[in-house]
Amino acid sequence: MAMIAIDGPAASGKSTVGRLLAEQLNYLYLDTGCMYRAVTWAALQQNIDIGDETAVTQLAHDIQMEIYPVRDEEADGRHYTVHVAGQDITWELRTPAVDANVSQVSSYLGVRQEMVKRQRAFGERGAVVMVGRDIGTVVMPDAPLKLYITASAEERARRRTRDRSEQGHIANYDDILADVLRRDQIDSSRTHSPLRPAADAILIDSTDQPPAAIVNAILQMIQEPVNGER
Ligand code: CDP
Repeated sequence: MAMIAIDGPAASGKSTVGRLLAEQLNYLYLDTGCMYRAVTWAALQQNIDIGDETAVTQLAHDIQMEIYPVRDEEADGRHYTVHVAGQDITWELRTPAVDANVSQVSSYLGVRQEMVKRQRAFGERGAVVMVGRDIGTVVMPDAPLKLYITASAEERARRRTRDRSEQGHIANYDDILADVLRRDQIDSSRTHSPLRPAADAILIDSTDQPPAAIVNAILQMIQEPVNGER
């Protein structure tokens, strides 16, 4: 099994589960959300109007983006490093301004096509756990294991509030809950690659389960294949 696709709504725990799973299995890990976030960050940085689909799409094509595992000298709690045009923007991706605009950027077809192309190229590098919104449905529809991780909106907002305050931001639960619900709404109702589980995805509710328990359950699933299929 060389591909594991994980999808789910904002702050559902999918990135943590994906990262731990990749570590355990010694697979590559790609959090595709950071790519849409990087395009959004660059658009804001360059004062490109987020509503200008042509300009944002052009930017998505031109952007020089690199994602790689954390080097010793970079270790500051990050889980991977993102460079845009050689600049380390890993933490810039988590600001409220990026949160507020990323769902609009990722609703553009041309932006998605370019990111999906890059994600598939990353997948060619080896066994991979890929996390996002459309991995099981669009990016890797042939992945032998697809997971869709959800949690209640309140629990997701609590987790995101904790993450953001640990990262040194002022984090207000009500604002974060509103952002999570707003992004879920845009991500689920967009025309291109809306957020939804693949028909053959395993649904996991993480509301009352810590990531380690979910990872253990998945590892067991892989080791004890149903009908010897995997
Ligand atoms: O971490 P969180 O779940 O809040 O978000 P993320 O995974 O970093 O994704 C940020 C945004 O990028 C999402 O709200 C989607 O609008 C978009 N996205 C997408 O459209 N397709 C993906 N495969 C991954 C993210």
